[in-house]
Amino acid sequence: MKGITRARTGFAGAVATLTVLALAACGGGSDSAGDGGTDGGDGGDLIRVGFSQLGAESGWRTANTESVKESLSEENGFDLTFVDAQQKQENQIKALRDFIAQDVDVIAFSPVIETGWDEVLQEIKDSGIPVVLVDRTVDTTVDDPFVTWIGADFTQEGTTAGEWVAENAPDAKIFELQGTLGSGAQVDREEGFGAVVGDQIIGKASGNFTRAEGKTAVEAALQAYPDMTMIFTHNDDMGLGAIEAIEAAGKTPGTDIQIVSVDGVRDGLQALVDKKFNYVVECNPVFGDQLAELITKVANGEDVPKETIVIDEAFDQTITQAEVDARAY
Ligand code: AHR
Repeated sequence: MKGITRARTGFAGAVATLTVLALAACGGGSDSAGDGGTDGGDGGDLIRVGFSQLGAESGWRTANTESVKESLSEENGFDLTFVDAQQKQENQIKALRDFIAQDVDVIAFSPVIETGWDEVLQEIKDSGIPVVLVDRTVDTTVDDPFVTWIGADFTQEGTTAGEWVAENAPDAKIFELQGTLGSGAQVDREEGFGAVVGDQIIGKASGNFTRAEGKTAVEAALQAYPDMTMIFTHNDDMGLGAIEAIEAAGKTPGTDIQIVSVDGVRDGLQALVDKKFNYVVECNPVFGDQLAELITKVANGEDVPKETIVIDEAFDQTITQAEVDARAY
């Protein structure tokens, strides 16, 4: 497993009918939310946070970045340096080293993939700066590499999707459209889904969590697996790309080829209302307030839980337009 132990699911018995819920790093963009700081500046009581976001690959990521920036504002007591790594691990590692050089109070980051962090995590540990992991997880040999982690239970998301398939489409022939290979979200969703309906999967490929690459992967899959009747996509953006590929092939998404997705961003849920998606397992990106609370406690040396699971829900085609319109993201 990973550098953390996951204890439980944030899904409150999710069922099919539950329809309630870049500093300039090389190649990356950055911005600093405040011009104060703790070290001798005019913002002496602000908590200086270096946040390395992995990219802007999806609607989910955009919503997560907005939530993080809104919560880690100067008004709320933070001096945030935010760096977008553009989905490149080397950009993230450079940003993390920059944060060490700046001697920030807390380093937070969403690791694009699970492995490859040993060296830089050891450097951070040697610097004494506490680490808060956000969204995705790491697989490292470094002992006790982070203080706390906040994110979703990706394995449970895959399991919830699999259970819906087992109940509603037990004969489906499934193509699995995977996220960035080696990312926590990909590894764990694959594991959770495969444990339930692995024998129904006829093919897999990665769409790197983007709409464009999702479309390309499905165009190829339609040729390679002409008998597929369902796509399990690891996020909505790739599923939306899949819709384009399916329609271009003269087939009807949601009917000829069912689509089960993860995220629950507005465009994904709109596809559910439009009957082009069949089921969506939420991955809630709006946890900036919880993150801010954790970072404050960490900066103050207070106890925090080793992990915080963000609560997710799940949606089927009974979701209404009004519910979609009321979504925050
Ligand atoms: O790590 C969370 C995943 O990353 C989301 O499901 C996906 O949309 C994003 O790119």
